[in-house]
Amino acid sequence: MKTIIIVLLGGLLLFSLAAFSLLPQRGRAPEQPIAFSHKIHAGDYQIPCLYCHANARRSPVAGIPSVQFCMGCHKITAADKPEVQKLQGYWNRKEPIPWIRIYDQPDFVHFSHTPHVQAGIACQQCHGPIETMDRVREAVVLTMDRCVACHQKRQASLDCVTCHK
Ligand code: HEC
Ligand code: HEC
Ligand code: HEC
Ligand code: HEC
Ligand code: HEC
Repeated sequence: MKTIIIVLLGGLLLFSLAAFSLLPQRGRAPEQPIAFSHKIHAGDYQIPCLYCHANARRSPVAGIPSVQFCMGCHKITAADKPEVQKLQGYWNRKEPIPWIRIYDQPDFVHFSHTPHVQAGIACQQCHGPIETMDRVREAVVLTMDRCVACHQKRQASLDCVTCHK
């Protein structure tokens, strides 16, 4: 009897481990190549989101600022801090920073920032309180349910082909 229970429990454990690893990873907060803090930039110093993610207004992607853009401030600002020296390393080597993506929809989903930003929807509705985060975390998981719920509420399109082409 005991062995049967142990075997069953073992099987259950293996099954749940397998099931867990098959699920897409959600709510992730990967460590980035440079410890860039939204809390410092967008929180403490109140740099507007669109100052760094200007493309969100006019293109599907919001975009991540280039090393050159960062260096506009960091040739001087906090130049002695170790994480800023890492930034200067990328600048000197003329390498882009390999930031790890957090919000990433599957290829069969069509999404664009432009209509949302132009409709006045705050970034935080879809990305959570980024300005409080030292490291970006997927605070809002943008499943189909969530997209559709807001489209319903705001009387935006519910056609499948709006989001699937
Ligand atoms: C508009 C100016 C500005 C821009 C643009 C800017 N920063 Fe900063 N950054 C600051 C200020 C101000 C601080 C805080 C300095 C301090 O606390 O002494 C800071 C701090 C930092 C720190 C140090 C955090 C710490 O305390 O160790 C890092 C790393 C950093 N920024 C990286 C970046 C990166 C990467 C970019 C480009 C994506 C960038 N910054 C763009 C103004 C800027
Ligand atoms: C000083 C420039 C700067 C400002 C200001 C800034 N960001 Fe960012 N943002 C970055 C950089 C650099 C990254 C990539 C590194 C990271 O993920 O932390 C990033 C990453 C992100 C991501 C995750 C992207 C992904 O991989 O999915 C989101 C979402 C985001 N920012 C939203 C915002 C919002 C909302 C604001 C305003 C509250 C804001 N950002 C202000 C520079 C900035
Ligand atoms: C209606 C929901 C929604 C709003 C509002 C929104 N985003 Fe996003 N954002 C997303 C989705 C969905 C993705 C992933 C897109 C993909 O994978 O194609 C994303 C991706 C990003 C990324 C990483 C990839 C990229 O597009 O460059 C950044 C940075 C970002 N958003 C910043 C912002 C900022 C800044 C604002 C406010 C100006 C904002 N977002 C407003 C839903 C939203
Ligand atoms: C918080 C509310 C909200 C969320 C969440 C949201 N949307 Fe929207 N979306 C809107 C509104 C409002 C509009 C209509 C803007 C307009 O009428 O110009 C819109 C428009 C769009 C459009 C353009 C439609 C057209 O007719 O051109 C697409 C595509 C879209 N959304 C995809 C998505 C996807 C994909 C998601 C989830 C990843 C999403 N939306 C999440 C509110 C939202
Ligand atoms: C407002 C945007 C939006 C609309 C409208 C929409 N979808 Fe989706 N759909 C998504 C997003 C975002 C995902 C992927 C995210 C996720 O995992 O839920 C998705 C995923 C899916 C999937 C993949 C399976 C799954 O659940 O992950 C199927 C199938 C699908 N949608 C079918 C449809 C059909 C059929 C319609 C029309 C009745 C529709 N969608 C309308 C945004 C939308």
